[in-house]
Amino acid sequence: MPKIGTPKETASGENRVAMTPQSARELQELGFDCLVQSGAGKAARFSDKNYRDAGVTVVKSAAELWKQADIVAKVRPPTAAESKKLRAGQTLISFIYPNENKKLLESAKTANSTIVAMDMVPRISRAQKMDALSSMANIGGYRAVIEAGNAFGRFFTGQITAAGKVPPAKVLVIGAGVAGLAAIGAAQSMGAIVRAFDVRPEVAEQIESMGAEFLFLDFEESGSGDGGYAAPSSPEFREKQLELFRQQAPDVDIVITTALIPGRDAPKLWLEDMVKAMKPGSVIVDLAAERGGNCDLTVKDEKIETPNGVTIIGYTDLASRMAAQSSTLYATNIRHMMTDLTPEKDGKVVHDMDDDVIRGATVTHKKKITFPPPPPKIQAIAAPPPKAPEPTPQELAAKEAETMRKAGIREIGLLAAGGLLMMFIGSYAPASFMQHMIVFALSCFVGFQVIWNVSHALHTPLMAVTNAISGIIIVGALLQVGSSSGIVVVLAAISVLIATINIVGGFMVTRRMLAMFQKS
Ligand code: NAI
Repeated sequence: MPKIGTPKETASGENRVAMTPQSARELQELGFDCLVQSGAGKAARFSDKNYRDAGVTVVKSAAELWKQADIVAKVRPPTAAESKKLRAGQTLISFIYPNENKKLLESAKTANSTIVAMDMVPRISRAQKMDALSSMANIGGYRAVIEAGNAFGRFFTGQITAAGKVPPAKVLVIGAGVAGLAAIGAAQSMGAIVRAFDVRPEVAEQIESMGAEFLFLDFEESGSGDGGYAAPSSPEFREKQLELFRQQAPDVDIVITTALIPGRDAPKLWLEDMVKAMKPGSVIVDLAAERGGNCDLTVKDEKIETPNGVTIIGYTDLASRMAAQSSTLYATNIRHMMTDLTPEKDGKVVHDMDDDVIRGATVTHKKKITFPPPPPKIQAIAAPPPKAPEPTPQELAAKEAETMRKAGIREIGLLAAGGLLMMFIGSYAPASFMQHMIVFALSCFVGFQVIWNVSHALHTPLMAVTNAISGIIIVGALLQVGSSSGIVVVLAAISVLIATINIVGGFMVTRRMLAMFQKS
């Protein structure tokens, strides 16, 4: 059976591992034998025994693992020494950053081995389960808030206690991509007042739906680029943006910056004067530290304190600081990639270069460097739908008048037809029938008008409150159920049954709605 193996990460401070006991079980179901280097999962709290229990063979050394494995799954790009171990026909799946690791691509090409770069998985809906950059950024954003909280000397949430009133912390998140949104969610759940800014206007809705405030910039420029990422902003836009941040600096307590455009250096957005304007005790967490940082004063991989008492955290290993969690998610991403690579679940890798996701992630294959890939055929997830041109106010008014005119004609027509029908029935039917018929027609009309005008979003709560109407129906039906006429009794019984179903359904819907707001 083909073997998939994971060596121990060699980079210092790297705690993650690319295979967990759980992912190994799933990989075996795909037809692979699993290998792991002894101690590979230790820092992420997976012991050799855990792996053995999951049916994994534990090998002693990295050399042995690289020799035996047909597919090597790891976290960090291989070092020069590791890349020498690549052999013909072997596949490596890892973070690669191909733009910065050209030598690795060359040596894999010469060795005739295939490299699948997890950081090159395109951001399209189908590939979300393999999007390791997003799963790591999600953890990074969460951990940034935890690190900020650790360095910040106050509560996040506002409190009124006997010992005094505590104001809530104010958190500003710059760059609301995956990491930014995770940071917003974490800070918000801890009770802080959260503000966020991004150059892509389409994220405003997401930010606001999480309860944070989107800082709008009054400027005619959209920062949206291709593939769900941002486009570089113009110097004028940047100036406006800096002006906005300068206003925020004295007010906010914590700044979390995640702004980045892939393949470029991080834009400098939190300048020295802004750090100086912040209150003592404030914290900046710069997630873009790896690419030079969004803050002027960030020191990569360090936590520093400025003379005015502002802590700046430039850690680049935030995901590795939550190794058990990040390994679990990363190993799952790899397992999903393997599922796509082995469609028959028979351990036979089918490297389909017509598949957008596999093509995008493959950087060397069959003695060729296949990076950069062509753009994916499918639209990126976060790309906004193309906008139709906005109608002018005059056009809007004319359109509204036309709609009202049509509606008016339709209503008059309906009323006339209804009136004629009533006259026709009235000339034959008894008076008591007519009375009931008119009440019935009017209640249908009123009920329809009331419900029809409720927006779609409110249909579910509306269903919940229709219990009241169903209650009235039951009362009416109970009054009729003792009637001497058999048909009335049957109709009344049916009414009771249907209204009861409606009431029970209404309660169930209400319960589900409430459960959505409950934390388990
Ligand atoms: P992303 O591409 O989803 O988000 C970046 C966001 O920044 C986008 O929404 C983009 O529109 C925005 N942006 C770009 N230029 C901007 C500007 N000039 N002003 C305001 N917003 C701007 O990226 P993702 O996955 O959220 O990652 C964000 C950063 O976090 C990356 O640099 C990534 O390497 C880093 N990261 C760092 C970790 C660490 O341990 N330090 C862990 C995980 C991620």
